[in-house]
Amino acid sequence: MNTYLGIDIGTSAVKVLLVNIDGDVLDSQSVSYGTDSPQALWNEQNPSVWWQSTLNCFEALRERNQSHWQRVAAIGLSGQMHGAVCLDEEREPVYPAILWNDGRAHKESADLNRLCPDIGYSAGVPAMPGFTAPKLLWLHDNEPDIFARIDKIMLPKDYVRLMLTGECCTDVSDAAGTLWLNEAARDWDDDLLSACHLKRKHMPTLLEGNQISGTLLAEIADRLMLPDGILVAGGAGDASAGGIGIGAVNEGDAFLSLGTSGQIFVAKEQHSANPQGYIHAFAHALPDRWCHMACLLNGASPLLWFSSITSTPIDVLLSEAEAANDQHRGVFFMPYLNGERTPHNNPFATGSFQGLTAHTSRNEMTQAILEGIAFSFRDCLLALESANTYLSSLGAIGGGVKSDYWLQMLSDVLNLVIHKYDGAETGPALGATRLAILCHTERSIEAVCQSPAIEKTFMPNAERHAFYADKHAQFSSLFKVLEPTYG
Ligand code: XUL
Repeated sequence: MNTYLGIDIGTSAVKVLLVNIDGDVLDSQSVSYGTDSPQALWNEQNPSVWWQSTLNCFEALRERNQSHWQRVAAIGLSGQMHGAVCLDEEREPVYPAILWNDGRAHKESADLNRLCPDIGYSAGVPAMPGFTAPKLLWLHDNEPDIFARIDKIMLPKDYVRLMLTGECCTDVSDAAGTLWLNEAARDWDDDLLSACHLKRKHMPTLLEGNQISGTLLAEIADRLMLPDGILVAGGAGDASAGGIGIGAVNEGDAFLSLGTSGQIFVAKEQHSANPQGYIHAFAHALPDRWCHMACLLNGASPLLWFSSITSTPIDVLLSEAEAANDQHRGVFFMPYLNGERTPHNNPFATGSFQGLTAHTSRNEMTQAILEGIAFSFRDCLLALESANTYLSSLGAIGGGVKSDYWLQMLSDVLNLVIHKYDGAETGPALGATRLAILCHTERSIEAVCQSPAIEKTFMPNAERHAFYADKHAQFSSLFKVLEPTYG
């Protein structure tokens, strides 16, 4: 029986999954790496680290799975979106990759919105600093010699594809995050490109996520001891890949992702933009499907930060908060350690605690962090509702869903039923394997992209929802008070 690989080029690690033809996970391997932040607001990674980490994952999987390894038929790709990977004619990076959570291009983002007043409709959302297009304008204005050497602009997972196949391709869901894609037409937009001093020749070839993008290069197959002729699927940006993994492919299917970043993602069968609330109306990775997505730059990452500055494992923080429960009403946490996208579009927003006293304990602070992130998700939900997207239930994926306590809190804050699916922590890498299966077999999207079995369902509690609705109103007032102090 054939096997398939899915690679997710994440922000903190590469994860590779090995699955069988039914999508059952046989094994997985991840390799972690860091982010370079040479200046405030800057976040960069070196593309060669993604490639080396992918090779290391492959090596470990091969050693543990000799017979499955000989039956790999296709590879799917997923990755962090929006990263600017700029290559010269030799396909060498001319600059470190500028990541999705990099806020340096704030002026260029405002310039782009002025230059292209309809961008919120054509590209599905107004420009925000972490998107690829403003970052290229920043390079043009601040590093003209480097800009002049750019021959191709790739996205993180597409750089790994280039290493695997030699092909310069991307899929429409990842292309969406550049802001150069006309979302309704699923094609590059010449006006948006030219506003950034670029042409189609700088762009990778566009594909749907389930199409074939190329074949594994013979020398790479040799090096990895893989069979010849392995196909590489178009793949997807991590948000869409998460959707494919959890079966969110039909109108109204929705999920919440709680990884380094956070999203509420809703699949759509038509493209409809509503730029006011900074909802991302992007192409989904499967043909004739789009999405509405509300995006947080601070998903579970503030909890990771707190764990590191208190030298306390996340599990310990979570169990302390659970023991304290929601008895501590007065402490607030604004989670904007990386600025924020939906609904504020403010790269200068910062994090803060409010309401600390000489008696405040660490568990109250953890509780406030969990609540602050849940309140940001509520802001996202309200932004989706202002774009006429209403939900009654959500799936949940990402590392943050390990905590039932946090999922119950999210259900209470959002007043929505939340389903935790089997393998929910696997996230986008599973979607990547499904795209590999789709590009290699005749199996239908409906058959391959089913929702996994529900492991647990969280029902909102009316009393706790009322409590959190009040606290969210105070959180929103606090944001308004603090906003003038940001940058
Ligand atoms: C989506 C987004 C994140 C990043 C990092 O717009 O910014 O999903 O791709 O995970």
